[in-house]
Amino acid sequence: MEPIISFRHVFKSYPMYQSVTAGIKNFLFHLPTSIKDIRRGHFQALEDISFDIFPGETVGFIGSNGAGKSSLLSLMAGVIIPNSGEIHVAGRVSPLLELGAGFHFELTGRDNILLNGVLLGLTKQQVLDKVHDIITYSELEQFIDQPIRTYSSGMLARLGFAVVAHLEPEILLLDEMLAVGDAAFQKKCLRTMGEFRERQVTMIFVSHNMDDVLRVCTRAIWIKDHRIAMDGPPQDVVEAYLRQSG
Ligand SMILES: Nc1ncnc2c1ncn2[C@@H]1O[C@H](COP(=O)(O)OP(=O)(O)OP(=O)(O)O)[C@@H](O)[C@H]1O
Ligand SMILES: [Mg+2]
Repeated sequence: MEPIISFRHVFKSYPMYQSVTAGIKNFLFHLPTSIKDIRRGHFQALEDISFDIFPGETVGFIGSNGAGKSSLLSLMAGVIIPNSGEIHVAGRVSPLLELGAGFHFELTGRDNILLNGVLLGLTKQQVLDKVHDIITYSELEQFIDQPIRTYSSGMLARLGFAVVAHLEPEILLLDEMLAVGDAAFQKKCLRTMGEFRERQVTMIFVSHNMDDVLRVCTRAIWIKDHRIAMDGPPQDVVEAYLRQSG
């Protein structure tokens, strides 16, 4: 079988002024290395990353804050490009990246559904046909004609997941979207992900909740200090990660 996503010796660094402004949380977390990197003028977010992901796999990426997980997903989505190495993605990508990415905060929930559907490859008519189902799934009927700057973070996650869940995804990229959802919505997402798994949709899932990783993933990859520390069955990888995290 051909891989649906393949990375070969991928390196990604950010110029230093960007890593300080865009990732202040991560910058402070890694102060000693960060200071060394200021001298070098760039911040290495990913180093020599190689893996193949096959159709139908659900791969969980785990690791500490600032390890490079979101950068990996942005590379898969084509939102950023690597400094070196090769990336092949053989399928339509439906990304649900950081909260609200791709959303316009002055537009209503309904307009954001239309905009995102079209940006992610559907025709306007196809999106219009699905809008009702998307709104029902999100359970945001009451708020759907309000600008989304008035939404809570959980409401934004609901809207984002409802959109990607209705796009008939081939490759679904999910970055911590469960973290801000309430219990009912988390259950609904996990059920939908289970259905996608049965339909052989390839899913890439980033989470700090190891129970969710164990529940949904067929494989886990641990990113540690911007490199792959371990790649294998979720049980083994999660156990190793938790052991080193103390
Ligand atoms: N747009 C950016 N510009 C500059 N530096 C960035 C940018 N995005 C991420 N970085 C840096 O790259 C490193 C990896 O960040 P990334 O967001 O991929 O980590 P992560 O594993 O997703 O962390 P978390 O668990 O906190 O979400 C961090 O040190 C961060 O400061
Ligand atoms: Mg992240």
